[in-house]
Amino acid sequence: MLANLWRRAAAGNRLVADSGLSSTAMTLQIEELNDTNCKTYLLTAGEEAALVDPVRERLETYRALLGRRGLKLRMVLETHLHADHLMFNRAAKDLLGATIVMHRESPSPLVDRHVDDGDLLTLGGERIEVLHTPGHTPDSVCYRVAGAVLTGDTLLVGGSGRTDFPGADAGQQYDAVHNRLFTLPDDTIVWPAHDYHGKRSTTIGEEKRTNPRYVGRSRAEYVTLMGSLGLPFPQKIQESLQVNQSGFESEEVHFPMVADIAAMPVVSPEQVAEEQQGALPPLLLDVREPEEFVGELGHVKGALHVPLDVLQRRLPKLAGYLGREVVVICRAGARSATAAAILRQAGFGHVRNLGGGMLEWNARRLPVEH
Ligand SMILES: [Fe+2]
Repeated sequence: MLANLWRRAAAGNRLVADSGLSSTAMTLQIEELNDTNCKTYLLTAGEEAALVDPVRERLETYRALLGRRGLKLRMVLETHLHADHLMFNRAAKDLLGATIVMHRESPSPLVDRHVDDGDLLTLGGERIEVLHTPGHTPDSVCYRVAGAVLTGDTLLVGGSGRTDFPGADAGQQYDAVHNRLFTLPDDTIVWPAHDYHGKRSTTIGEEKRTNPRYVGRSRAEYVTLMGSLGLPFPQKIQESLQVNQSGFESEEVHFPMVADIAAMPVVSPEQVAEEQQGALPPLLLDVREPEEFVGELGHVKGALHVPLDVLQRRLPKLAGYLGREVVVICRAGARSATAAAILRQAGFGHVRNLGGGMLEWNARRLPVEH
């Protein structure tokens, strides 16, 4: 087992480590940037840098910092699709010029590198290990660097990320925390994406001993607890969630209310495949970006392609389908839920959302075209 080599530097919120996971003598640093409840971290190894969970409004500040220190931004590491702040959009992505990294189940079309559990990334010769820890969201990951772990909203100081949004699963979170995080060495330093108690970091050992959400609770008890929290929606969810899921903001697209989207009916891939064989198959409407439509996940045969950012403009052309059964499709089932709610508002009476999107369609090995 690796000894924890992190030591607190004079800068207070900066930790320095001679990485025990690398054969090089490179020093890896983690620094917290925002000084708010919502955390962004800067990882540096030599001249190379990565930003973890950057907040869009602060991009110029981050860029100035990188410039002052002569750092090259290699990666943007997102721990999950956030609902409480704006992430990158196309313009921000171009400005940063770095590889956007997210779990493969991320709904965003702007991800350059999809990762999965156990994948290794490198920064200046240092290794960063991806741990898939679904629960808060299906695409939640933690990033393990030397003797520390960036836990996103999976594990917080004395807490855990909420599990009451669509796609969240308290049982999965319990399993992820116990099987992927609490199995790390006790002295592993934990850097969470949020801090509500004025305490910046913790350790795996301390959370195992004291985290009130987990200590002495069975999986079933945890699920009951998380289902009874009754938390209000985050303040910025209406401004952030659908923008982050779709990767754009536009004057022409008016995103529906989050509560309306959550109410859209979901249909399974198998059900859609069966209905396709029937006498009156549903209209399949794929709302992904053009490169995704012909990309690795392919599309369902016969699907009509109308990207989400032009859907509202094209509604008049779709008027002939108003009375028809419609199934909306995207990558992970998030953007299609937004599109389904837009169609419903426009008077489409029979709209359903393909649950899990093309990821789930492919996982069931149903046929696709490219
Ligand atoms: Fe979150």
